[in-house]
Amino acid sequence: MEKLFLLAAVMLAMTPAYIRTVAAAPHPRVTVLATGGTIAGRGASPSDVTAYRAGVIGVDEMLAVVPEIQGVADVTGEQLCNIDSKDMNDELWQRLVVRVNELLTRDDVDGLVITHGTDTMEETAFLLSLTVDSKKTVVLTGAMLPATAQDADGPRNLVDAVRVAAAPEAAGKGVLVVMNGEIYAAKEAAKLHTTGVAAFTSPDAGPLGHIGAGGAVFDREPRCHKHPTFTFETPLPRVDILYGHEGDDGVLVEAAFRAGARGIVYAGLGNGSIPVETEKRLAKAAAAGVIVVRASRINGGAVVPADPSYTAAGFIDSGALNPQKARVLLRLALANTGDRGEIQKMFQE
Ligand code: SIN
Repeated sequence: MEKLFLLAAVMLAMTPAYIRTVAAAPHPRVTVLATGGTIAGRGASPSDVTAYRAGVIGVDEMLAVVPEIQGVADVTGEQLCNIDSKDMNDELWQRLVVRVNELLTRDDVDGLVITHGTDTMEETAFLLSLTVDSKKTVVLTGAMLPATAQDADGPRNLVDAVRVAAAPEAAGKGVLVVMNGEIYAAKEAAKLHTTGVAAFTSPDAGPLGHIGAGGAVFDREPRCHKHPTFTFETPLPRVDILYGHEGDDGVLVEAAFRAGARGIVYAGLGNGSIPVETEKRLAKAAAAGVIVVRASRINGGAVVPADPSYTAAGFIDSGALNPQKARVLLRLALANTGDRGEIQKMFQE
């Protein structure tokens, strides 16, 4: 018997480490890449939930608050930056895209969680969905209440996001957003509340799933899987968003043109309707080579073809993309081509 144990011990010692790890069914390995936001925010007191500073607490401190997270996956933290996401910019976006792509090619990373401020989370999530091509799961999460708040939502969101990043069912579903117990597709997620913890939703579509007692539960597939993957090269072309309103005379169209905008997203009224004076100015800009996209200030429904004069002027319909997401796609598209027809196809996809 003793000899048998000895033999087993010798054989185990001689087995390469990677085979031993596989045999022991290791935890998935998830990297948490931190960029700041309210999830890393610190207030003056536990009741301070609006005058706090976002992007202060480091990733190690965030992870230390939820030691149970290591029971879900082998989690490693990495700090990319620590900002309030209102200050997200192209240089940080480029660093993020490069780092995400690097991490996803590594054999010791099975999934990725990005902690991010909620104010521009939907833009960053959508950007990543257009610049990352991997079957591994990328999840963005954040918080509406700072880490120092009495009932901070960040710790739960972080654990939930790691659960989703580690879940085999999430693989291949593209970039996801996890907030308040729900899972959204990057293209569909939108922040629709200024302060509440249930700030995110997917207008029209609803969440993809939720985090139940046993982990991630998916109820449906994302509506759009197929999209082009762009390479991110700075500087990205300037694209301005102009917001439609009663009495809009379109003078800001000229301001955007003079500022060098190669594209304008018009957050129009209803189904992307454009007041007549603004339409004239946008048509002039389009004739001068600016790509004009008709989006809507309404948070539901898609912008679909309407007045034939819009088509005649060469305006592109944003479809289901809200203005801020239409701007992300238009900037990436313009960095790759100036061809209006090709860009139109990208929006139709
Ligand atoms: C931010 O976007 O960085 C601040 C607000 C938030 O995270 O909710």
